[in-house]
Amino acid sequence: MAYSESTVVIGGLAHIPIVIGVFWLVQQNILNRQGKTTSSFTANTNSTSSIPTQKSAPKTTTTSKPSHQNVPVNTYKPKDPFIGKVTENYSLLKEGAIGRVNHITFDLSSGNPLLQYVEGQSIGIIPAGEDAKGKPHKIRLYSIASTRHGDNYKGKTVSLCVRQLQYEKDGQTIDGVCSTYLCNISPGEKVKITGPVGKEMLLPDDEDSNVIMLATGTGIAPMRAYLRRMFDQKERQKNGWEFKGKAWLFMGAPKTANLLYDEDFEAYKKQYPDNFRYTKAISREQNNSKGGRMYIQDRVLEHSDELFELIENPKTHIYLCGLKGMEPGIDEAMTAAAQAKGLNWSELRPQLKKAGRWHVETY
Ligand code: FAD
Ligand code: A2P
Repeated sequence: MAYSESTVVIGGLAHIPIVIGVFWLVQQNILNRQGKTTSSFTANTNSTSSIPTQKSAPKTTTTSKPSHQNVPVNTYKPKDPFIGKVTENYSLLKEGAIGRVNHITFDLSSGNPLLQYVEGQSIGIIPAGEDAKGKPHKIRLYSIASTRHGDNYKGKTVSLCVRQLQYEKDGQTIDGVCSTYLCNISPGEKVKITGPVGKEMLLPDDEDSNVIMLATGTGIAPMRAYLRRMFDQKERQKNGWEFKGKAWLFMGAPKTANLLYDEDFEAYKKQYPDNFRYTKAISREQNNSKGGRMYIQDRVLEHSDELFELIENPKTHIYLCGLKGMEPGIDEAMTAAAQAKGLNWSELRPQLKKAGRWHVETY
């Protein structure tokens, strides 16, 4: 049968809707399949991802959920730092503890603009004096340990949790420059502050999200801020954010006397037993199953089933903060824990990271 040119063109055009239809069906199929394979480890799409700043966050912000994009960053830069005044500086350790760890608070009220921050950010400190070459000291970063409302709930202070660095070299004890400066500083003294910086460790906005926290030593600083935001009565009234999820803190310290903010956490546990779990790894007082020092990764392994049940929930976020050296140990523990559930940690971790649910700040 012979066809004219116009018949061929018309016939071809008539197939276009069919081709489009088939293409659409194939695309839908692919999208559905992608949805299925990633569903248990994807970001919580219900989250509006908001962190209110002090200015835009009056007493009740339950319905106002600004996005992470509104998080203040670098309000004060190294060339023109804010000059804060120390209001408090006290030891967080009990008798018999190892080393020196202090809680230090700075007054920010004279700032114009006000140095505002949110839970999970850090600030920079420029120590007074000069280095060996006669140049000003470089900035050191410290995780903020207070909520945006500050320890006194007035919104114009920031607190840090600082361990004095001390190490032996050639038979001499060397003191870290900035950590020693901060631990020795007295109320009334002025300090150069920069920042705030960092968006890696921000809390999710959802009141029913779950938050797993893995901290060693001063890595507790951002977690202290999270837990105050979640469970401190005055904070809850002030922030209009009523945490309803599960928060689980794994805390590593060398001795019981070195546990930081322990009484506060015990009080939260008593008051919110369904929402807060607190698991300690006291390395120099407890042994792991192999007879070695008890580290938080050993505790992670002990609780792997429950942890992975939580992690499978897309509303669960994991935060890791403190010693850089703990990262391989945590990875190893998560690998074993995942394996026990038939999961592959080296595949899961990037998925969690991509979904904004795996947060790491180690130093
Ligand atoms: P420095 O005088 O700068 O000395 C440090 C240097 O000493 C090292 O670079 C290394 O060269 C050398 N050194 C260190 N240990 C040894 C050793 N054992 N043997 C030989 N040489 C050694 N710290 C806190 O206390 N609390 C916090 O909340 C906190 N948060 C941080 C958040 C972030 C994002 C980062 C990046 C760091 C954080 N730190 C925190 C660490 C902090 O920034 C400083 O690094 C720390 O206080 C040491 O500074 P320093 O000036 O006292 O020491
Ligand atoms: P240890 O020092 O007994 O080996 P701090 O900063 O107050 O010293 O606390 C840090 C805690 O983290 C200590 O209990 C320390 O144990 C522990 N720690 C040290 N190395 C690791 C590691 N690689 N993984 C996990 N925890 C660690």
